[in-house]
Amino acid sequence: MKKPSYYYHNGFRMPMGFPIEGFTSALNYQAQPSDIFIVTYPKCGTTWTQYIVWLIQHNGEPLSASKKIEDDIPHLEEVGKEKIEILPQPRVIKTHFPYNLTPYHPQAKYIYIARNPFDCAVSFYHHTRGFIKHYNFAEGSFEDFFECFIKGEVDFGDYFDHLVPWYKHKDEHNVLFLTYENMKIEPKNAIIDIINFLGKAYKDRIKNEEILNKIIINSSLENMKKDQQRWSSKRPENMPPFIRKGQVGDWENYFSPEQQQRLIEKFMIRTAGTGLETLWNGIIIRS
Ligand code: A3P
Repeated sequence: MKKPSYYYHNGFRMPMGFPIEGFTSALNYQAQPSDIFIVTYPKCGTTWTQYIVWLIQHNGEPLSASKKIEDDIPHLEEVGKEKIEILPQPRVIKTHFPYNLTPYHPQAKYIYIARNPFDCAVSFYHHTRGFIKHYNFAEGSFEDFFECFIKGEVDFGDYFDHLVPWYKHKDEHNVLFLTYENMKIEPKNAIIDIINFLGKAYKDRIKNEEILNKIIINSSLENMKKDQQRWSSKRPENMPPFIRKGQVGDWENYFSPEQQQRLIEKFMIRTAGTGLETLWNGIIIRS
């Protein structure tokens, strides 16, 4: 069985090439009252949400094709706190840190996006295959990756160790909890929720239909598929692009019945009594 390669930072798996200093310094970042954190487990809609927030801040005008979203909204544990501290405030910060490692300030805002673990696993598989320098897994199969995913032996740790603790905090005043699946059904509502959550400074965007429409259209899957270099470094020609399918339910094309059963069992065990049990009813358990 082939396994992706990782760097280990205090026992925590990270993509190869993410400097250990970045990770260590990120842990010491002092969150500011005006900070806006976009918090996700990998492949759950991070980039989409980054771009929505970016568009809200820029009246819906698109990011130029020559710029990268990470220039304005960097990944905390990749770049380290020094690169974050030089950003003008309010800072928008991407992180995949689990709850207990995420820098906290009671006035900072945390937008959390959850995606069902089945589609997350498939998306994470393509991600891990495609970023050869980070994982050396170009030849890996879905079966290989699934074994790592279900054991939680992937970068940023176990899916459920991320989701469950964050979900416990979902009703706090400074946390906005959204799901990828609901964002797909009602992108306009998700955008309005994010605007409302960001506070007074951006409220006028909701009343201005023209700006709101630009945010909706520019953050659509179709538009984000164009100029992919804005979201990530180039991937080899034989790998799917970073913005890949953007669908709910693609997992059915990958999972065997046995894999499905195993992940359902883990899901039931890890979410029992949390309120998460029914969050993806109809999506992950076929009737
Ligand atoms: P798929 O691989 O299933 O297509 P992240 O940004 O956290 O790495 O998540 C990547 C996933 O979000 C990919 O899923 C990608 O296609 C999807 N995605 C990115 N932009 C999107 C958009 N505007 N609408 C829907 N899905 C989007």
